[in-house]
Amino acid sequence: MKLKTWFTVAATAVTVFAVQAQEMSTDDIADRIKPIGQVHVAGATADTGAAAGGARSGADIYNSACVACHSAGVLGAPKLNAAADWQPRLDEKGFDGVWQNAINGINAMPPRGTCGDCSDDEIKAAIEYMIEGI
Ligand code: HEC
Repeated sequence: MKLKTWFTVAATAVTVFAVQAQEMSTDDIADRIKPIGQVHVAGATADTGAAAGGARSGADIYNSACVACHSAGVLGAPKLNAAADWQPRLDEKGFDGVWQNAINGINAMPPRGTCGDCSDDEIKAAIEYMIEGI
């Protein structure tokens, strides 16, 4: 093999290896970054809520945590903007009473409506959203 030919072969081989190595590491990096990125995004969302002191609106909380039961009245849940469902509760317990029951749970109503990361004020905002039309 002539020296020039050897160099060409060697250079080609190095290029091929380099490209392969690059592709492999790009895939590796993509695989490794993905879960980290997801965790980071989840953490950032939680941080934002906490830092802003309950930035999520009552509608946001209702639509993510409460709608499953309170839209159709599952298990007797008082329905969105249904005065007949809400007024007797408000008359009997007052707003603070139903708010406390939403935080602590009552009968089939789970504590915080299963929204574990909802602050007391976010639960309050969700209730206000549910009754603002009654
Ligand atoms: C798993 C179904 C379910 C989910 C999810 C749920 N609720 Fe309820 N909720 C109920 C039921 C059932 C009742 C009626 C309980 C009773 O009085 O027997 C109720 C009652 C309430 C009451 C009235 C409490 C009282 O003292 O009369 C409030 C306020 C309330 N829910 C708020 C919320 C909020 C806010 C959310 C979302 C963060 C939520 N709920 C999510 C089922 C649910």
